[in-house]
Amino acid sequence: MTRTQASRTSQVQSPPRSATAERSVGRPIDRVDGKAKTTGAARFSAEFPYPDIAHAALVYATIARGRITGIDTADASAITGVLAVITHLNAPAMKPPPAMSVMDLSTLATGTSVNYLNTDEVHWNGQPVAVVVAETLDAALRAAALVRVTYRELPATVDFTGEEKNAVPQKNSPIQSGGARKGDAEAALAAAPFSVDLRFTTPPHHHNAIEPHSTTAAWDGDRLTVHEGTQNIAWTRKQLARRFDVPVEGVRVISPYVGGAFGGKSMVWAGTILTVLAARVTGRPVRMMLTREGVYRTVGGRTPSTQRVALGADADGKLTALIHTSVTQTGRVGGGPEQVTSQSRHLYDAANILLQQNLVELDALSNTVMRAPGESIGTFALETAVDELAYKLDLDPIELRMRNEPSRNPIDGKRFAHRMLREAYALGAEKFGWSGRTPQPGSMRDGRWLVGMGVASAYHPSWQFSANVTVRLAVDGTVVVRCGFHEMGMGGATAQAQIAADALGVPFDAVRVEYGDSTLPTGPGAGGSGQTASVAASLLTACEKLKRSVLALARRSSESPLRGRRLNGLEARDGGLWAGGTGPGETYVAILARAGVPSVDARVGSETRVGEVAGQVRFMSKLLLDRRRWVKAACGAQFCEVRVDPDTGEVRVSRWLGAFDVGTVINAKTVGSQLRGGIVMGIGMALSEETLVDPRNGRIMNPGLAEYHVPVHADIPPIDIHCLDEPDPTMPLGLVGVGEVSITGTAAAIANAIHHATGKRVRDLPITLDKLL
Ligand code: MOS
Repeated sequence: MTRTQASRTSQVQSPPRSATAERSVGRPIDRVDGKAKTTGAARFSAEFPYPDIAHAALVYATIARGRITGIDTADASAITGVLAVITHLNAPAMKPPPAMSVMDLSTLATGTSVNYLNTDEVHWNGQPVAVVVAETLDAALRAAALVRVTYRELPATVDFTGEEKNAVPQKNSPIQSGGARKGDAEAALAAAPFSVDLRFTTPPHHHNAIEPHSTTAAWDGDRLTVHEGTQNIAWTRKQLARRFDVPVEGVRVISPYVGGAFGGKSMVWAGTILTVLAARVTGRPVRMMLTREGVYRTVGGRTPSTQRVALGADADGKLTALIHTSVTQTGRVGGGPEQVTSQSRHLYDAANILLQQNLVELDALSNTVMRAPGESIGTFALETAVDELAYKLDLDPIELRMRNEPSRNPIDGKRFAHRMLREAYALGAEKFGWSGRTPQPGSMRDGRWLVGMGVASAYHPSWQFSANVTVRLAVDGTVVVRCGFHEMGMGGATAQAQIAADALGVPFDAVRVEYGDSTLPTGPGAGGSGQTASVAASLLTACEKLKRSVLALARRSSESPLRGRRLNGLEARDGGLWAGGTGPGETYVAILARAGVPSVDARVGSETRVGEVAGQVRFMSKLLLDRRRWVKAACGAQFCEVRVDPDTGEVRVSRWLGAFDVGTVINAKTVGSQLRGGIVMGIGMALSEETLVDPRNGRIMNPGLAEYHVPVHADIPPIDIHCLDEPDPTMPLGLVGVGEVSITGTAAAIANAIHHATGKRVRDLPITLDKLL
């Protein structure tokens, strides 16, 4: 973790800065959960002790499509300690997965449409066909290996490459755009004096969080407690209540720590449901830890893609045509279109634009959201093509981008709420030393290494979700923030404590944030890089309400110096409310003590059923209206230096700098870590990650870290992060979200640097050494 800096080119605008009190927002405060996680005190979902716990393991189908004709469980049942072998022949009935509905957003968390163990049908190679429950994990795993299943196979479509020609155009929906056009891009391309027309491919990717998916489930009558590392406790709770036909109020989902998720823990996958089923069947608390293979077989990954990017430009490098089309895959039993062309609506001011996403449906597990779905692979194609065009024009690739930097959203003329890509490139180029690069490929060397420098734009839309929050201020001056959000390691609780501390004018240490439990007010999912801004919006409102209530208490007393004061003339600082810089005021402690109340509460959001639906509808309509007006996003400039061995094709990423516009930086340390983590993921995507699917039967052939290669520390250079730290005036506290933007552009920056080093263009990920020889 070297060279950590977040340059601060401006001050945060809001809430108002006090002359005396130290603000928490902006400080690089250590994560509040850091100590527990690094000392082993943090309990993950497979670590909650129950005295009589049983262990479960899955059996996976070995065909892509067909029907089960027989299951022999005799050998498995004979293993000492086996309590149950549950198959479709003896499993109790469950409710089928719900259809997606905008009236209940928890339906979006349905991983697949399969009613596991309630059917003899097999829909993908790896679908769970049995769950074994035993006294020990070892017995469960051994017995699972002894379950013998026979099938009647049906014809299956599993080969993405072979199916590509059958892709159908994705239709536009209110929340997703399948295509868009402006002018006649094909004609403009044909007429352009300079052009590129390129095809790119990216392979499937799978989730590899440090903590594999695991569930601990315990029933008490119709009440259910589930410990689950999840990105959405509210959706998990509702899904489970529905599938097991019990009241949602009786289901509690607890998720204090999540050992990484990256999209993989957004949906409710088979392991979770079957652990709850196993606990139901055996009457015991049951724990299931998916093996690494289990994650690949039962948790969706990223779709493969083929993409066409064609660009046409005039002699000045002004884009006249931008075409970006894609083919991606969904499962026949679920998954969604990946927004591969999303960034191409926003990045370049081309006169003519044509975007179209196309889909093929395979007999495969549903794809799912994964590490900046859409833009991470979409920017690989777009940003490599821009670099190729720059070489055709003999223009610096940054200069080409700046000549096409739009003032309004290119596809539809909407306004940008905030956009500082120019500033990001200027800052990055200076700090990285871009001017020291000689453009000619192969022109830079360090001993026997070929040295290359590459650049690419990062882009990720910013999102907001509804969040219910309560804040309690106690007479001892402490504050408790409660919201059922998620801590996957990004520092969410720390950020909210900083925000609450400043909003109320109390020290950071006075605030405690409770999260990760469905008994708390319903929080947003951790996804789309939108959790922090979403919670912050409600938290700020709750803090305003709280201050109002405290002031009302104060005004009741003739002794209070705040008598007759209005909140908008007061400043929250030094643990209380004060008029002006040196004016009269008093501490919260004094106000509450005099009034004789132990605490004051404020709440945002209703938890009644009607209140919740009404709140969701209100929130969604507001959001859609807002997005009709504004385009909102985080963006950045990625700078990469590589060294390539000319004889072996070995690529080492030797230097990295990212300059980002992520709005207000709440915490330079956690924001820096988030952005660094994304770049590490992007390096994996560029150089090593690839799920290999057997085209004959749809079986994933490398389901584990031994053969699916993610970067290790030795693969990662020092990563220098700079943030512009300018608030987005239309977002709560100026936040635009930091989780995913840094994954985008990374693979293109590497591919472009490799071209600069070697003169070779690789348009098929991952860029393994065989492609460079
Ligand atoms: Mo994410 S892929 O929004 O967890």
